[in-house]
Amino acid sequence: MSTEHADLQRFLAINRASWDKIAAQYKGRTALPLYGPLAPAEDELQLLGDVQGLRVIEIGCGSGHSLAYLHACGAAELWGLDLSSEQIRTAGETAKEHGFSPRLFCCPMEANPGIPAGYFDLAVSIYALGWSVDLRATLGHIMRYLRPGGRLVFSWEHPVYSCLKTTPQQIVLDRSYSDEGPIEKLSWKGEPIVMHARKVSTFLNALIETGFGIEKVIEGDLREQKTGEADFPHRWYSKRRARMMPTTLIVKARKP
Ligand SMILES: C[S@@+](CC[C@H](N)C(=O)[O-])C[C@H]1O[C@@H](n2cnc3c(N)ncnc32)[C@H](O)[C@@H]1O
Repeated sequence: MSTEHADLQRFLAINRASWDKIAAQYKGRTALPLYGPLAPAEDELQLLGDVQGLRVIEIGCGSGHSLAYLHACGAAELWGLDLSSEQIRTAGETAKEHGFSPRLFCCPMEANPGIPAGYFDLAVSIYALGWSVDLRATLGHIMRYLRPGGRLVFSWEHPVYSCLKTTPQQIVLDRSYSDEGPIEKLSWKGEPIVMHARKVSTFLNALIETGFGIEKVIEGDLREQKTGEADFPHRWYSKRRARMMPTTLIVKARKP
């Protein structure tokens, strides 16, 4: 096993263990119709189009609340994949509560657990794609899952927002935006996690190199008026920070 491969497996093991612990506290936090904290939502952006009758797969489906939204929008088939068995269990419960039966896989997005090629009209990933420890491999799988003309819509924390640090006086850059790669740290719940720092251009170039056509890139400004979300000035996602820098990067891309 190469060192790099061993590292990626170790990163996945760390993240799986932490998500299994965090899952119960994360139900529906970043799920459609929201694209991210304090960010514009689907009612405003209209990125998904008419979902009626579509085959949809969610990459990093978490607690299943985006799948429930897509079910309510009339999707014909819903499939979801997540690294965490706890998240998959919760997604199953969410689906049961909402009266639908998705195909769920407990599997890292960097692998294919048996998902058919050329099958899906739409792939979505809400605050999950950036967890990938191998973005090229993940995008390659998504490309194969989609039918020609199928679309990928994903959101992720804006890579500049991830570099910000708030002090009582100022909002400053805490690390270089240019430094990319794995960062081992503690999650907001104190669990060890491995996040990958990537620039906006890294996401966009990876899409282009995988063969996607980019249709829309949104650096979602703060939903100042429309959001009903409470503001917590000292938390990671605060209106004060979001006024300076969008919390969320949203991309819509198409398989030719
Ligand atoms: C921030 S949550 C968002 C998920 C979903 N939008 C929600 O609100 O429940 C990120 C999800 O990505 C999953 N995840 C992290 N790394 C992953 C990987 N390598 N492959 C698949 N899922 C992963 C986590 O288990 C978690 O459910």
